[in-house]
Amino acid sequence: MSRLRVAIQKSGRLSEKSLDILKSCGLSFARSKDKLFWYGRDFPVDVLLVRDDDIPRMLLDGVCELGIVGENIASEVMLERNSESELKRLRKLGFGHCRLSIAVPEEMEITAISQLAGTRIATSYPALTRHLLEKQGIETHIVELSGSVEIAPGLGTADAISDLVSTGTTLRANHLRELDELYQSQAALYGRVNDISAEKKALLDRLLSRLEGVMQARESKYVMLHAPREALERITELLPGVEHPSIMPLEGSDRIAIHAVCGEAVFWEHLEALKAEGASAILVLPVEKMLA
Ligand code: PRP
Ligand code: ZN
Repeated sequence: MSRLRVAIQKSGRLSEKSLDILKSCGLSFARSKDKLFWYGRDFPVDVLLVRDDDIPRMLLDGVCELGIVGENIASEVMLERNSESELKRLRKLGFGHCRLSIAVPEEMEITAISQLAGTRIATSYPALTRHLLEKQGIETHIVELSGSVEIAPGLGTADAISDLVSTGTTLRANHLRELDELYQSQAALYGRVNDISAEKKALLDRLLSRLEGVMQARESKYVMLHAPREALERITELLPGVEHPSIMPLEGSDRIAIHAVCGEAVFWEHLEALKAEGASAILVLPVEKMLA
């Protein structure tokens, strides 16, 4: 029987959440001693634990059919190999948010990245950085570094950097100032889907439909509340992503109970607005599983 292989980051920002999402899809693994290959027990999908930067190339080289990796890394390899058609982004996963930004030394008096034309920019993402700067008509000298990009301006090997920023701690610690954002990234599931067998394709579709359910459940909330009957229409409009709520009469009262699955994020502001329309006993619950 066919099996699929999915590569995930071995250790780092994406590893725990990558594994988490696979488990939410009903996958469980027999962990081998060397820890680099985990055999899927209940579903024929195995996991490879690797460096995140290696994942797009492993997909293109046919080592695995699926991989969870930051969009920035996948885009870098696709640009480098000119292989957009072979590697397909199947689903954004809603975690690992970060941005690729241009940063300069704090004291550098400059307000726009166009002023960096002709300077040296250090980065671990040379193809993506060059592509995004050229799209804005800015020509620079790219200095490719495999790591510790943030120390390049201090060492005098570059004038500015193009690096991933999530909290901004690394930049601050190195007296760098974020000048402009080039690209927004998050973790996504990628696949080499062109030349796989029909059997693997069927397996992939099953996994993707589970994943869709997991993602929808994560993004959804089940909301229950009591409200005056005449406020039903206004209340329904205030519930984010709801069209047809369930309505239940409340014994011996002119109020009703409204239950609905909100397909979009529910914030405190939504609850306050509902209360202002006369809603009470408002409960917001997570949704565990969903299958459309
Ligand atoms: C990125 C980037 C910075 C750090 C920024 O590295 O290269 O070092 O994260 O994060 P901060 O804004 O929260 O300080 P990454 O986590 O991708 O590590 P890797 O390059 O070793 O994979
Ligand atoms: Zn990495």
